[in-house]
Amino acid sequence: MVNKTWDFFYKFHHLTCLLLVSLLAAALYFTRDVNYLKFLKNQQKLHSDDKNYSSTSSSSGRCDFFSGTWIYDNKSTYPLYKERECSFMDDTFACEKHGRKDLKYQRWRWQPHNCDIPMFNGTILLEKLRGKKLIFVGDSLNRNQWVSLLCLIEPFLPPSSHKKLILDGNMYFFHDNEYNTTIGFYWSPFLVESNADNIWDHRVPGRVIGVESIENHARHWNDADILIFDSYAWWLHPLMTLMWGSFGSSEAIYKTVDMKLRRYEMALTTWSDWLELNINRTRSKLFFMSVSPYLYRGDVLRNCLNRSEPLFMDEYLVSTKKSMRGIVESTIEKLEERGVKVEYLHITRMSEYRTDAHPSIYSRFSDYLTEEEKKHPRNNSDCLHWCLPGVPDVWNQILSDYIIN
Ligand SMILES: *[C@@H]1O[C@H](CO)[C@@H](O)[C@H](O)[C@H]1NC(C)=O
Ligand SMILES: *[C@@H]1O[C@H](CO)[C@@H](O)[C@H](O)[C@H]1NC(C)=O
Ligand SMILES: *[C@@H]1O[C@H](CO)[C@@H](O)[C@H](O)[C@H]1NC(C)=O
Ligand SMILES: *[C@@H]1O[C@H](CO)[C@@H](O)[C@H](O)[C@H]1NC(C)=O
Ligand SMILES: *[C@@H]1O[C@H](CO)[C@@H](O)[C@H](O)[C@H]1NC(C)=O
Ligand SMILES: *[C@@H]1O[C@H](CO)[C@@H](O)[C@H](O)[C@H]1NC(C)=O
Ligand SMILES: *[C@@H]1O[C@H](CO)[C@@H](O)[C@H](O)[C@H]1NC(C)=O
Repeated sequence: MVNKTWDFFYKFHHLTCLLLVSLLAAALYFTRDVNYLKFLKNQQKLHSDDKNYSSTSSSSGRCDFFSGTWIYDNKSTYPLYKERECSFMDDTFACEKHGRKDLKYQRWRWQPHNCDIPMFNGTILLEKLRGKKLIFVGDSLNRNQWVSLLCLIEPFLPPSSHKKLILDGNMYFFHDNEYNTTIGFYWSPFLVESNADNIWDHRVPGRVIGVESIENHARHWNDADILIFDSYAWWLHPLMTLMWGSFGSSEAIYKTVDMKLRRYEMALTTWSDWLELNINRTRSKLFFMSVSPYLYRGDVLRNCLNRSEPLFMDEYLVSTKKSMRGIVESTIEKLEERGVKVEYLHITRMSEYRTDAHPSIYSRFSDYLTEEEKKHPRNNSDCLHWCLPGVPDVWNQILSDYIIN
């Protein structure tokens, strides 16, 4: 039953990937050259940016996990689990299964400059999550991280654990009876309501976003003890239709706009207003994942195909849209002024180095390419998601430390 539904999930998900990737391509086609010039000019700025990350994250008094370097670890500590042994593995992220031969991407350890990330200990995390609900809310990158967390935790589960995923509306979740803990993923790629909210089939032409409507989603995760949000890639579509009112209502008002930053800001405002009014501040811990970087297809220098090592030189980093990041950051700051704390986990920079760690052509995604597309692998690589084991495991090691301490 579960396997069957998963299969559907994969299928639709992958068609969606295709769409999303072509969407990104379309969006990037226009901005690529401009970005390239900007990125050359911004090399020095990136360094000062680094300092800013440090000061933000160390303001809380904890070590800055987000600035550091990748170190090849051949001491058998990594990977933290085996792709084939993870019961929760998803074909989007299973690169080894899909023919990737070079497995070095599984062995890199992130070393912060001034401290160590504590080793992942699932027993301690599960104990912390006893009787609690942890939900990832967002798009497929959050799903990537959710699967990683389940794989990390699996070896620590009690033998009685059934290890099954349950689908309920837009929520996929795993529940362990002994710990009475729920670890779920809720699909809402824009956080607010949209015409891409169907977890099976979000391949709808044209994006319609209910920028002021979030309650139909939020009431499903409102009571979680730990919430991890993300939302970025889907906003890059050049044109979107904003909607006020409810889907299907004749009273609804529609307006098609480009206004990339403004519409993102509107949605995040809706999200933050909801949190302010509805979240139990004593009970819920909130996190927001910073942008997960992707690489431009067709770009020789920064494509992810055939990469076997991370980048070590900052000048090749993709400079992820700062303006969009700024909107998330200021929304979170304003929310904090209103008494709601959201931890912003700054994983963008560390992930930008890992051009070797995307699935490229080694995932189920490739099964949906036409023969013609297969002849041009560089243009049809998935440089958005991450192979597992891999980069999201590090995000989760950090998340886990924030949850435990
Ligand atoms: C870093 O922060 C300082 C002070 O908040 C600010 O003046 C500067 O513009 C920031 N640098 C970048 C690259 O954002
Ligand atoms: C581990 O990696 C280091 C640095 O790359 C290398 O010098 C060493 O020989 C490697 N050890 C093993 C056992 O592969
Ligand atoms: C995890 O933590 C528990 C409790 O502190 C400890 O007994 C156990 O040895 C740790 N496991 C690993 C793999 O470090
Ligand atoms: C399990 O946890 C939920 C909260 O997530 C709580 O409402 C419920 O009473 C718990 N059940 C048991 C058997 O402890
Ligand atoms: C908020 O959560 C705390 C801790 O779980 C609980 O004691 C309190 O009753 C909750 N408040 C409301 C308004 O539900
Ligand atoms: C691949 O992408 C590049 C850059 O977007 C484009 O110039 C080229 O025509 C594409 N090649 C094919 C075969 O689609
Ligand atoms: C990727 O590597 C394979 C094997 O080394 C090679 O045959 C292929 O041409 C490379 N593809 C690209 C686009 O560089």
